[in-house]
Amino acid sequence: MDWRQKLVLTAFVIAVAAIDWAEAETMVTGTVFCDQCKDGQISLFDYPLNGIKVLISCADSSGQISMSREETTNLFGNYVMRFDGTPDLSNCNAQVSGTGQGSSRCSAAGGPAQKLRLMFRMFDIEMYAVDSLLSEPAEPMSFCPKSRNPVPAPARPTRPAAPIAPRGSPPSFRFPPLPPLPPLPPLPSLPPLPPFPPVPFLQEESACPHQNWTMPQYRCYWRALNPDSKVAVVFGPIAAARYGNDMTLWGSLQGRGDPYKTLLREATTSLLNSYNSLEFPYHTIGVITHTNLALRGSTRNVLVTALRFMRANSGFGRVPCKLTPCK
Ligand SMILES: *[C@@H]1O[C@H](CO)[C@@H](O)[C@H](O)[C@H]1NC(C)=O
Repeated sequence: MDWRQKLVLTAFVIAVAAIDWAEAETMVTGTVFCDQCKDGQISLFDYPLNGIKVLISCADSSGQISMSREETTNLFGNYVMRFDGTPDLSNCNAQVSGTGQGSSRCSAAGGPAQKLRLMFRMFDIEMYAVDSLLSEPAEPMSFCPKSRNPVPAPARPTRPAAPIAPRGSPPSFRFPPLPPLPPLPPLPSLPPLPPFPPVPFLQEESACPHQNWTMPQYRCYWRALNPDSKVAVVFGPIAAARYGNDMTLWGSLQGRGDPYKTLLREATTSLLNSYNSLEFPYHTIGVITHTNLALRGSTRNVLVTALRFMRANSGFGRVPCKLTPCK
């Protein structure tokens, strides 16, 4: 295993251990965005859609639909579907199937269906992620940049069925390709996992900006994360090279004034939000992966990722911050 896989696994173990699951269970999560510019990808103009229906359908070996289920997205544009047991969902697709009651101006057409990707299977728990689904308005919005190099329709090449191995790539956003990096030195063995408080995830929508997380009255919400944990340990060696070995998570929340400090502040905030609410648009592992991808890219990548985290942490102006003072 290279360090990235270890990191992925660690984060998933943390995430799963924090959930109070006793029975075998399978969970599928994903997000629907309004592709306002109709460019087939998620840009800064795009926003998560709530009240959109997503249909998951599975075909058996003869191509007949053997199972389907529909769920509606929440305020974060997220949907979560749970299945009893651990069925094999690798032959299932997710697609936008309707707009529900939301009279969205972004419901003229749905983007392509996406395959379910197994991200994780352990202790009778399976987790599948779905790449972001898109819904489009009838016409691109007037403020959209005139396409210099038009993006072809988001035709998805049929993916080979093979790579269903656990993978770290997060479901939510597609980044422009980044230059390849020299091989990374192996990570020294990972530190022991933090002990898990018995508090389960909040099964509600909540997103809190960074200011809230430094308020002493909410200290008990730090759950699995210790404020004194080192950024280098939580985010890995690329972050260590950028922020040094002494920066703590608490310290990272104070950062401001340059894109890199802003990225780390918002990433730590998203990490806290992801632990606190199962509904938060980023999984714990997604936060870590996106942060690392951004740090390997240009300053623009850093800024764009910081902005995305910031928007999610602000609840996109719709989702409240649900914290009550600790006793
Ligand atoms: C979170 O912080 C914001 C800005 O400081 C504040 O307006 C809001 O009341 C805080 N929310 C909670 C739940 O403390």
